Amino acid sequence: MTKKKRIVSGMRPTGALHLGNYHGALSNWIHMQDSYDCFFFIADWHALTSDYENTAHIKACIRKMMIDWLGAGLSPDKSTLFVQSHIKCHAELFLLLSMITPLSWLERNPTYKEQIAELKNKDLSTFGFLGYPILQAADIIIYRAEGVPVGIDQAAHIEITREIARRFNYFYGYVFPEPETILTESAKILGTDRRKMSKSYENAIFLSDTPDAIRKRVATMITDPQRKKRNDPGDPDVCNVFSFHKSYSPVDMVKEIDQDCRRAAIGCVECKQKMAENLISALAPIREKTEYYHQHLDLVDDIIAQGNKAAAAEAERTMESVRKALKV
Ligand code: TRP
Ligand code: SF4
Repeated sequence: MTKKKRIVSGMRPTGALHLGNYHGALSNWIHMQDSYDCFFFIADWHALTSDYENTAHIKACIRKMMIDWLGAGLSPDKSTLFVQSHIKCHAELFLLLSMITPLSWLERNPTYKEQIAELKNKDLSTFGFLGYPILQAADIIIYRAEGVPVGIDQAAHIEITREIARRFNYFYGYVFPEPETILTESAKILGTDRRKMSKSYENAIFLSDTPDAIRKRVATMITDPQRKKRNDPGDPDVCNVFSFHKSYSPVDMVKEIDQDCRRAAIGCVECKQKMAENLISALAPIREKTEYYHQHLDLVDDIIAQGNKAAAAEAERTMESVRKALKV
């Protein structure tokens, strides 16, 4: 058997995960567990780069997110699951890499400019925010990752990571593989209002939502905007409820709804109810598991502690080579 490829990826601790997170990243990670040597972590220091003023909620978010990871199917038996801030040598490597990273690489980072323009209510003209990609590079190469599964929005950061690894190896001798970007397909489903699903838009359905919460959420979903009256034929191809059906309903039902919608043989209310019930059934096993972990928080803390320990050992091993190469 050949050695499994090492991959590393992280998520900022946003708390409860929604279906967009699940279809965007988490389900991919879950599948990759069997064919890769996986390191998945909660990037809590990264949360500080933009939310440094109010940090009170971060700890609770870390636990909540780990519970959703476990409930959805990430497994400590298959992957190393840990919390960034517990592995202090990420910070050491971040410092060392910051010495060799040209400012221009950071200033031309497209997400840097975008976020500063977008998040006008926050003062992001900090050193930490500019240096974000260096921290991300440290997160990745400290495990000598060969691949990084991320969405397209993170591709520029992985490119900077590769450049930093290359520069380090050039100056001090080979230590780091250059990790490849493993692009995860973006989620096919949108929020209830047809915008990108996001906690801050209040258009999200969460993995941990109760059946009733799901029914209520689904009832508010925007359907085919052209279909105003019950007798108007609809177009499932532009309807977000139909996209959900495609993910959660049996193929026969999807086919039937496709036809019935086009000839106004089914109303949107009924169509949504059907979808909601299928979604609820699909999420039931996740909900059951997350509820179990919520009742066994000591187990969650144990899993985090063990993951931290394994990650720390691996990171420390790399740091020994780094210090040696740098002669510090
Ligand atoms: N920047 C990533 C995001 O906002 C999170 C992240 C931090 C990450 N460190 C990482 C992702 C290392 C992959 C690898 O989603
Ligand atoms: Fe969408 Fe279903 Fe209404 Fe058709 S019947 S527009 S698929 S919700």
